[in-house]
Amino acid sequence: MKAQHCAVAIAAGLALTLTWFAYAGQKPRSAAPIYGVTLPAGYRDWPLVAPAQEAAPFDELRVVVGNPTAMRAYRKNVRPFPDGTVLVKLAWKREPSPDFASASVSGSATTVQVMVKDSKRYASSGGWGYGRFVGGQPVDEAQHRTCHACHASRVKDRDYVFTHYAP
Ligand code: HEC
Repeated sequence: MKAQHCAVAIAAGLALTLTWFAYAGQKPRSAAPIYGVTLPAGYRDWPLVAPAQEAAPFDELRVVVGNPTAMRAYRKNVRPFPDGTVLVKLAWKREPSPDFASASVSGSATTVQVMVKDSKRYASSGGWGYGRFVGGQPVDEAQHRTCHACHASRVKDRDYVFTHYAP
């Protein structure tokens, strides 16, 4: 009996220790400079807004996806996008398909970029907060200073959003 109790105690101790390590090992999602934007949970499963392609030197394939608030606004043509809208752009290197000469496929992942609508918090940047992530980590502040300037100079009249919904 005694040995059994001992074994149970050791097993329980081991389970607790492993649980502790599992939690301690979990890094909190890092926030982007300036805006404090984080990678939204589950974005990889969000619906497609539209694909895009960038010529050399980037030579990338991209897709823009949106959360339910974004998709509702796109489909009903609501502008400005309501607070709570989140748009994510995923990008990969464009590579020739190894299987079919004229086809391109996605190579290694490059960046994940995020726009979050919060008209109060981000009042000074048209209501949008921006985040750019490489390997899950936010890039430096200098890069985040470029985001709104480019979006504002080209598509201010479309609530600072380039991508149209591809039906
Ligand atoms: C020099 C111009 C430029 C800069 C700088 C820029 N973007 Fe964009 N962004 C674009 C264009 C063009 C698109 C349309 C999709 C595409 O062609 O990749 C886009 C699309 C996006 C989208 C999808 C929603 C939309 O507007 O279509 C997100 C999200 C985004 N950018 C985030 C960012 C973030 C975050 C930064 C800063 C780190 C940034 N962008 C900097 C030009 C720019």
